[in-house]
Amino acid sequence: MFDKLASQPNDPLLALIGLYNADSRTDKIDLGVGVYRDDLGNTPVLRSVKAAEKLLLETQSSKSYVAPEGDRVFLDLLWELVGGTQSGKFAAGVQTPGGSGALRLASDLIARAGTGRLHLGLPSWPNHAGIFGATGLNVETHTYFDVPTQDVRFASVMKALSGAQRGDAVLIHASCHNPTGAGFTPGQWEELAAVISERRLIPLIDSAYQGFGAGIEEDVAGLRSLITAAPEALVAVSCSKSFGIYRERTGAIFAVADTQAAADTARSNLVTMARTSYSMPPDHGAAVVRTVLSSDILRKDWMDELNSMRDRLQGLRQQLSNALADGWQLAPQIAEQQGMFSLLPLKESDVLTLRKEHGIYMPTSGRINIAGLKGADIERVAAVLKPLLG
Ligand SMILES: Cc1ncc(COP(=O)(O)O)c(C=O)c1O
Repeated sequence: MFDKLASQPNDPLLALIGLYNADSRTDKIDLGVGVYRDDLGNTPVLRSVKAAEKLLLETQSSKSYVAPEGDRVFLDLLWELVGGTQSGKFAAGVQTPGGSGALRLASDLIARAGTGRLHLGLPSWPNHAGIFGATGLNVETHTYFDVPTQDVRFASVMKALSGAQRGDAVLIHASCHNPTGAGFTPGQWEELAAVISERRLIPLIDSAYQGFGAGIEEDVAGLRSLITAAPEALVAVSCSKSFGIYRERTGAIFAVADTQAAADTARSNLVTMARTSYSMPPDHGAAVVRTVLSSDILRKDWMDELNSMRDRLQGLRQQLSNALADGWQLAPQIAEQQGMFSLLPLKESDVLTLRKEHGIYMPTSGRINIAGLKGADIERVAAVLKPLLG
C-alpha cells in the first residue's frame, strides 16, 4: 500500500528550521519560526504557567477522562476572555488540540451543515487553505493585502463579501494578522459587521494572538462586534501564543448563536466529529489556562507577562521602522502593524541572498517574525534590508 503513496514535500517553515540549525555562523538570525522569543532568543515558559503547573502537580488527583467537550471551566473562562460577557449571544465551546484543531472542527462543521463555501482573504496563514481544503470546503479567495504598498485592500474584501451567498463562511483574523500584521480600522470592522449581518454570512474568526497587538481587550473588540452582528458565528481560539504553551496543544472552538438550543446543537456536532478523530483533547494545557485564569494572583501575573511580550514587540517594531526609515518610505507601516509578523516586499532571490550571505533566515514569502530580532541585531538587519526594499 505504501508504494502507492507519493512522498509529500516538507512543510517549508519546518524545512527552514533545519536550514537554520545547520548554519554554523554564530551571528545568524532566525526571523522564520512563528514563536515569541525574548531578547536572548529564548521562548521561555511563563512564570504564571510554571506556577499553575506546580499547583496542578500538587493537587491533581486523577488522570481519568475529563469530558467529550473538554474542561468546562476552562471553556467558560476562555470564552469570557475572548467573547466577553456583553454579546447577548449564547456560546457553546469544545476544547481542541490547539487553534489548528479548532479550525479543523469548524471547517468540518461548515462542510457538514453550511454551504460548504468559505471566503478567504490572501495572503493568510498557509495552514488555513490546507485545513479548509482537507475538509473539502470550496475556498474562494480574494485579495486582503497588497505587499508592495503594505495596504489592506478593504474594497476587495467588501466586494467579495457583498457578492457572497447567504450561509457562506468567511475567515477573519481577530488581530495580529498572520502574515501581514495589518488589521482593520474600527470603521472597517463596523462595515464588515454590517455586510456579514446583511448577507447572513457566518464569520469564522481566528483568534490566535490575543494580547500581542494593542491589548488584551483591544485585540478582541472587532471580534466582539462581529459576533454581536452575525446571526451565527464560529470562533477558533488558540492559547499557544498568549500563554506560551505551543506544545501543549490548547485551544477551543466556540459556536455562537442567538439561542442556547442552536449553540448546543452545533456543539453536539463538533463533539461527535472530534470523537471520531482524536476522541478527546489533551488536558494539561487547558488545566494550566484554567488554573491561571481562575486565580486572581496568577491571572494578574499572566497579564503582566503578556503585556511585556507585547511591549517588546511594539518596541522592536518601532526600532526597526526607525532604522529602515532613511531607505524605505513605507518603513512607518512596520511600526503601525501589530503582532509578531510583517510581510516584506522581497523577491525570493533576495530572501535566498539574505540567507546565504548574511545568515538572516525567513521564508521565501518575505514574512518576518519581529520577535526573532534582538535589539542588538536591528541596525545590521536594517542595513541589509534597505537596499532590497528601497
Ligand atoms: C493565524 C493562526 N491561526 C491559528 C494558528 C494555530 O495555532 P496552534 O494550532 O499552534 O494553536 C496559528 C499558528 O501559527 C496562526 O498563526
